[in-house]
Amino acid sequence: MENQRNDVILITSSPRKKSNSTYAGKFIVKKLFSDYEIININEYKINNCNGCNRCKTFFKCIFNDDAGEIINKIENSKFVILTSPIYFTGVPAKLKAFIDRNQVQWYKNKDKIKKDKKGIIILTADLKYKKNFLAAESEIKSFFAVNKIKSIAIIKLSNKILDNKSKIKILLKKRIKKLREKIG
Ligand SMILES: Cc1cc2nc3c(=O)[nH]c(=O)nc-3n(C[C@H](O)[C@H](O)[C@H](O)COP(=O)(O)O)c2cc1C
Repeated sequence: MENQRNDVILITSSPRKKSNSTYAGKFIVKKLFSDYEIININEYKINNCNGCNRCKTFFKCIFNDDAGEIINKIENSKFVILTSPIYFTGVPAKLKAFIDRNQVQWYKNKDKIKKDKKGIIILTADLKYKKNFLAAESEIKSFFAVNKIKSIAIIKLSNKILDNKSKIKILLKKRIKKLREKIG
């Protein structure tokens, strides 16, 4: 698939330098696309949504920080990969702050049914059981939905393979072919 740099965005959210979720996201994006932009959410200034609901009327947030810029990039993209570690079964606070700022997208897009973008969700956690991922999965799917992103895969990595990058690589390599097919 030919792509321009701003067509594909990898959003990472782990605050850790040797993050497994970031590693997995970079591995997947490199395998699937020739060009992409990486946005580490931790490097941006993102205020917490204060629930003022001004975005309902003006389709614009009262805060003039970096969240708007990231949302614009997502709006102009075709493919979004989002990676997150599991924190208390949800997403880390900084990513949640960013997701909440997408309320403006809810008001803009709530009547638009057609999804015009595709995306992949990558989650890492210590524990493997299904419930452990549910809150994060639900929050990110909801964030995808308001941005008209159809999720083509949710990759969950846990315990035994974490902190062993070569094991992560082996596991992800097995999924590349199917992901390519889904991207089309
Ligand atoms: C604040 C905090 C909360 C966590 N909560 C959970 C949890 O609820 N379930 C779980 O399995 N792992 C939990 N973990 C472990 C991380 O999800 C796990 O180490 C993950 O692989 C880290 O991803 P990263 O390498 O991309 O930072 C937590 C870690 C931290 C620091």
